[in-house]
Amino acid sequence: MSVIKVAILGFGTVGEGVYKTIQSHEDELTGVLGKKVEVAAVLIKNKKKTRDINEGVLITTDFAEILNLPQLDVVVEAIVGKEPTFTFLKQAIQRGCHIITANKEMFAYYGSELLELAENHNVSVGYEATVAGGIPVIQTLRQLLNVNRVRQVQGILNGTSNFILTEMREGKQSFAAALRLAQEKGYAEVDPTNDVEGFDAFYKTMILSRIAFGEEPKWHDVERKGITTITSELIEVTEKLGLRFKHIASISRIGNQINASVRPVLVGKFHPFYHVEGVENAVNVQSDIVGSITLQGPGAGMFPTASAVIEDLVFVCQNQPPNKNYNKTTAACEQKEKGNGKGLWFIQGLVKNYLSPSLTWVEQTSEDTAIIQATQKELEQLISQKKASGYFQIIGEYKILSNNKEANFAVI
Ligand code: HSE
Repeated sequence: MSVIKVAILGFGTVGEGVYKTIQSHEDELTGVLGKKVEVAAVLIKNKKKTRDINEGVLITTDFAEILNLPQLDVVVEAIVGKEPTFTFLKQAIQRGCHIITANKEMFAYYGSELLELAENHNVSVGYEATVAGGIPVIQTLRQLLNVNRVRQVQGILNGTSNFILTEMREGKQSFAAALRLAQEKGYAEVDPTNDVEGFDAFYKTMILSRIAFGEEPKWHDVERKGITTITSELIEVTEKLGLRFKHIASISRIGNQINASVRPVLVGKFHPFYHVEGVENAVNVQSDIVGSITLQGPGAGMFPTASAVIEDLVFVCQNQPPNKNYNKTTAACEQKEKGNGKGLWFIQGLVKNYLSPSLTWVEQTSEDTAIIQATQKELEQLISQKKASGYFQIIGEYKILSNNKEANFAVI
């Protein structure tokens, strides 16, 4: 039986998970591909560390040794950072290998270039593991929603942030303790700033945007905020209002413009993400034929990520044409801006009964917090004039019981 030879670059959480899964699912891989999959080499950083890798596998710190192997079919990359990863993957493609990456930062920056190079060398690129861990969202968008015109994609895309928010609410943990736990469980990035300040979710959002809309917004126009301003007190106040903090990436197209944001928002129990807890991720796609679809599953960790890589291994070995990646839905479904542009906001530090013709009070929720209707511009002004100290948008449907009168809000 012929053999598919694989090299794994990096032997951290993801690399090790891929290695173990290739061993544990050998029969399934052989069954689907009709060939045995063998790990031929592993690229590591530190030669002194002991690792559970079979004899006969080349373990090296020198990528050139891997490139010089007599047979090499697939390079799986699970390192962090843009370089030297990008260079390694270019060299692998030029050698005629399919590539698979889990590196969202590198792929957000250089994905288009790698896809073009791969197309020129007639090899494939798998990047399912770059977005939403084990959830097959990339394949869903690029294989199964080819004709649907996508209106909007929303997602909880960072498992660490969602895990921290859940631990703070359910387990009454401090931010620091919850982050430590996420690190121990292998969810967080080497530099967790990327997780908690929204950079990781931002890169994933840019990758999703290219698949959903065929293009991405200008990076500096995207509002990017992390979860570091969310305190246990805020979680407690909002929980009493039936609201939960979720770190949500949102991409939509209005006219010819792609709008995106990555930020903490509040959702009520009717929102599909209200019950998405712990390290789970979720992606909601709204498109014109099917309507609304929500995919949910583990967003980080050794085996969820390995699952995405292993499925990509089958995808690339079946040599799917790489040009199916970013070309779809350039004529994405248009949607008009809704209503008067006012959103529903949870605001902190606004003087009680503060009056302004463009701002509507909905409810004073504590001494220091309230729910109001306003435009984001108005809120930004209140902050710059030091009339308020912070705000979070409430998205989705939300029912509030105000002065014993029920009021319904539906904000996308
Ligand atoms: N640090 C990332 C997360 C890993 O927490 O989502 C998966 O991309």
